Amino acid sequence: MDIRIDRESAIPVYVQIRGGIRDLILSGRLPDGFRLPPERQLATALGVNRTTVFSAYKELKSDGLVESHVGRGTEVVSRKAGKSAVEPAGPLPWRQLARDGSVREPDPLVRDVLALTERHDVISLQAGLPAAELLPLEDLRRVQEEILVRKGPEALLHSPTEGVTAFREALCRHMVPRGIRSSPDEVLVTSGSQQGLDLVARTLLSPGDVVVVEEPSYFGALEVFRSARVRLLGVPTDRDGMRTDVLEALLARQQPRLIYTLPTFQNPSGCVLSLARRRRLLELAWRHQVPILEDDPYSDLRYEGEALPSLKALDPYGYVIHLSSFSKVLFPGLRLGWIAAPRTLVRQLALVKQTVDLHSGTLGQWIVEGFLSGGLFARHLAATRTAYRRRRDVLLSTLAEEAPPGFTWNRPQGGFYVWCRLPEDVPPTRLLAQAAAERVAYLPGGASFVEEPTGNSIRLNFTFAPEEQLREGVRRLGRALRAAQAEPQRRNRSVVGTPPIV
Ligand SMILES: Cc1ncc(COP(=O)(O)O)c(C=O)c1O
Repeated sequence: MDIRIDRESAIPVYVQIRGGIRDLILSGRLPDGFRLPPERQLATALGVNRTTVFSAYKELKSDGLVESHVGRGTEVVSRKAGKSAVEPAGPLPWRQLARDGSVREPDPLVRDVLALTERHDVISLQAGLPAAELLPLEDLRRVQEEILVRKGPEALLHSPTEGVTAFREALCRHMVPRGIRSSPDEVLVTSGSQQGLDLVARTLLSPGDVVVVEEPSYFGALEVFRSARVRLLGVPTDRDGMRTDVLEALLARQQPRLIYTLPTFQNPSGCVLSLARRRRLLELAWRHQVPILEDDPYSDLRYEGEALPSLKALDPYGYVIHLSSFSKVLFPGLRLGWIAAPRTLVRQLALVKQTVDLHSGTLGQWIVEGFLSGGLFARHLAATRTAYRRRRDVLLSTLAEEAPPGFTWNRPQGGFYVWCRLPEDVPPTRLLAQAAAERVAYLPGGASFVEEPTGNSIRLNFTFAPEEQLREGVRRLGRALRAAQAEPQRRNRSVVGTPPIV
């Protein structure tokens, strides 16, 4: 019998012997009726104590794989007609195993939104994606080739959990226009900013903690927090961002573990937190000792108006965790984002990240480092801003032509989204059905709220679809809106005079 024992292993020797014999039986190499060697003989052959083999045989008996009979020794009993004695009791209940039942099922909305991008007959005003046809593929090819020649296989080996040092240095330079002065050991590279959200939740939050979020807020972050089983408290926003007066009242009653905010070109509303409110938010956080998670993937995409300093730039006390991403300007499929935070926290986050994915992709980090350091990112960003500004204007002007009375929207100075309010007489579900019939997709606003939303809203993205498709998409949306508006009126008319059922 070929049984291997690893004496350095933490697994007890008798468990290793039991496992070895078990594998031989289950693989059919020890047939039914096969007589195992007497304990003493096997102990000598393996160089172990007899009681060790005795314990292994005992375990195999309770597994139902062998039986002992006086005079016949220990025999394999399990394999009948080529079938294992250890039959599964049924298929594994993966859904039950994957969750403990008390956690709510994550909402499939984001996955469904991304799936829609593959349907070519649907015009997507829905997903938060950059324009695919504007991505600088030729630059990418050249940068990648240069990296492979210069760095060889190193570009595809493992790299530090915190991120490739040269990339973190480039990120520090990249954050200077945001007013942020960080050193590389205050930066953690993440696999998209979505991972950054998850790492912060895993590191700072425990079930039952209170987390303050804006209403509306980024749906993907709400899902991360819900998975962490925290209590979400919503603070309303207006055109100047989070209502800090409401936050102040909330902080008088609650001690949250985290305030999550998107101060610049918010997803989904596009609004910007005013400078006065940025300062007020920080004062409140300092006074109540609450860390702030500043999610900022959009601030590079300003189309007009004065840039404001990021929250992190205004925070000398290290309360702000700044989270950002390359997904909105460069290649989202590279999955690269980053966190800038005090180095003690970066160290903690890196320990957690290490258990999740060891590190983010090495080649991707070198590629984006090449884009940043070689000026290609700045060039691409400038071209992207021009194109997106035009697309925003196309969306807004077509809305002005096509939208029915009662449909209102804002005019964002940057970012990806226009936030729209539906007319009172258009129920969101009816509009969804009409939009599906028209083959135009948008993001329903309800999922962006923690509490019951005030009024029905939808989010329209203007960066993904080219200009002509944007126009056609808004025309389709206009038709869907008018059809949804007409439908209840028809229904109401037919309802008149119908006797009640009860
Ligand atoms: C505010 C915000 N945070 C985080 C993300 C996640 O982006 P990624 O993981 O691609 O960097 C998004 C994507 O839409 C977002 O809008």
